[in-house]
Amino acid sequence: MAAAAAGARINCFFLNPINPLNSKTTTRLTTHLHFRLSRKTPPTFCTRASATTPDETSAAANDPFVLTTPLYYVNAPPHMGSAYTTIAADAIARFQRLLGKRVIFITGTDEHGEKIAAAAAANDSTPAQHCDLISQSYVTLWKDLDIGYDKFIRTTDPKHEAIVKEFYSRVRDNGDIYRADYQGLYCINCEEYKDEKELLENNCCPTHLKPCVARKEDNFFFALSKYQKPLEETLAKNPNFVQPSYRLNEVQSWIKSGLRDFSISRALVDWGIPVPNDSKQTIYVWFDALLGYISALSEDMEQPSLERAVSSGWPASLHLIGKDILRFHAVYWPAMLMSAGLGLPKMVFGHGFLTKDGMKMGKSLGNTIEPNDLVQKFGSDAVRYFFVREVEFGGDGDYSEDRFINIVNAHLANSIGNLLNRTLGLLKKNCQSTLVIDSSIAAEGTTFKDTVEKLVEKARVDYENLSLSSACEAVLEISNAGNSYMDGRAPWSLFKQGGAASEAAAKVVILHVINDLVIILEAMRVIAIALSPVTPSLSWRIYRQLGYSKDQFYAATWSDTRWGGLKGGQVMAQPQPIFARIESQTEEENRVEAPKKVKKNKLPQSQQVVEA
Ligand code: MSP
Repeated sequence: MAAAAAGARINCFFLNPINPLNSKTTTRLTTHLHFRLSRKTPPTFCTRASATTPDETSAAANDPFVLTTPLYYVNAPPHMGSAYTTIAADAIARFQRLLGKRVIFITGTDEHGEKIAAAAAANDSTPAQHCDLISQSYVTLWKDLDIGYDKFIRTTDPKHEAIVKEFYSRVRDNGDIYRADYQGLYCINCEEYKDEKELLENNCCPTHLKPCVARKEDNFFFALSKYQKPLEETLAKNPNFVQPSYRLNEVQSWIKSGLRDFSISRALVDWGIPVPNDSKQTIYVWFDALLGYISALSEDMEQPSLERAVSSGWPASLHLIGKDILRFHAVYWPAMLMSAGLGLPKMVFGHGFLTKDGMKMGKSLGNTIEPNDLVQKFGSDAVRYFFVREVEFGGDGDYSEDRFINIVNAHLANSIGNLLNRTLGLLKKNCQSTLVIDSSIAAEGTTFKDTVEKLVEKARVDYENLSLSSACEAVLEISNAGNSYMDGRAPWSLFKQGGAASEAAAKVVILHVINDLVIILEAMRVIAIALSPVTPSLSWRIYRQLGYSKDQFYAATWSDTRWGGLKGGQVMAQPQPIFARIESQTEEENRVEAPKKVKKNKLPQSQQVVEA
């Protein structure tokens, strides 16, 4: 705290416009921020660029990649819309880990406030019991969806409460909190006072289509207006702060239209963190929840403190959020952080909505798709792949079961699964499932290897730029190219030719054919790694088929996508389908007379085995 009182040096990283998340290409700017700020003099933010010393460079390289999802409201169990952000975040986290980054992937649940208290009451439950139950349903779903988070923060966790109170006190001591009356129209589902101009008929919230309620309260206010200029300057200097770029305009126009101080306490809500020095009020749920991104960094065993939590990885590299909560993350949150003298996150990415009949899928509208049902029916890889591949990250996307089945069948079962299966089948039949040559030698003189190298590099760039759908597309193109290569070479017929020709000629033909199989299997190895951020379990199944152990799979990094990993002598596993085709309802009905195929492995219902 002594350092805080004396003023502390904050290091800020402005992002490279071409590759916003690559910290190696960041320009470092330093400034001196004073934690004690007078109300008249807003903090200068990142004012001076300086040359980066080698020590600083290595410190930057060692900085963890801190990635967050929103903390989900526990008014109801998760739906596919909430799962969407987390799936995307998990893919990004896995990709960064493949690059060798130390990743801290934070998710959790937002458990305070009026909406949660009302949901608990509606279920005849206490808020605490209700939160335990629903929070657990998120944990369970994340497990079923193969989400590998590092920290799960609940805003009812005592360490979170301690950090919120410390932060609040710091902002108050900086002169940014004052008491006043507030009157306005409140949307309980958004947990936000609304501007009358943005409401529909009967003062209905445009997102939740429910009327807002008139409220008048004696509250504590945060002096957001004081940060108008610093925020404008921050965005002007660092346009990558808000992504995709088209969302920046929206944020800039909010700021330009004038920032109004907002109420950060509630006199009528008991279910929340008491305001320090006024236990009759609780802290506004958004002021509370945003701090979960910092309190999550606090170690369970240590005495919670803002300073310690911040030193464990703040500022975050990336906040992933839906576009509906952009104002909180790109306006309120940076202003709160400036007030407390803390660094700003490097990027806020606002993705679009999953919609049903054009309306945002949501708990309040009750038009949701159950992620549990999808996972039980189709498996986690299919669900993860479909939403990442089909919804361009940033835009909206509509779900339809037909489309879901068509996409995952065409891409995962046919293009990738079949290619691996038929290649392994041929290798088993003709070479006892053993590679007789290194893949680097097998590929000499072919252009296929160049194609794979180009596509996997494209996938890397796409992942880095958060173009997740394009990354999937690039990987899929590898398997499409592999299928075309196999079809062009038709090794099955060459094997037959080999058998019919003279011994010498047969050997030559067979060598060519074996080369082809090795080349395809090497491409499959590359696909497995490159698609593992999106389909981790499918990728492991591919790796296992190629004769690798689980440890080898987990040890793989992005550099292993370089051509040449498969060596002569490697023995492949018994060919088994890695992704079974999903039978659509109509297909199933048309097949009533057909004999049932045996299901191998533990595969989700409605998937049926594809033969090589
Ligand atoms: N509790 C706040 C976030 C606090 S973060 C400090 C909240 N919770 S929420 O459960 O309502 O929403 C969480 C996230 O899920 C938001 O990013 C929201 O955009 C996202 N989604 C909710 N429905 C969605 C869709 N139908 N489609 C895509 N994402 C959606 O807001």
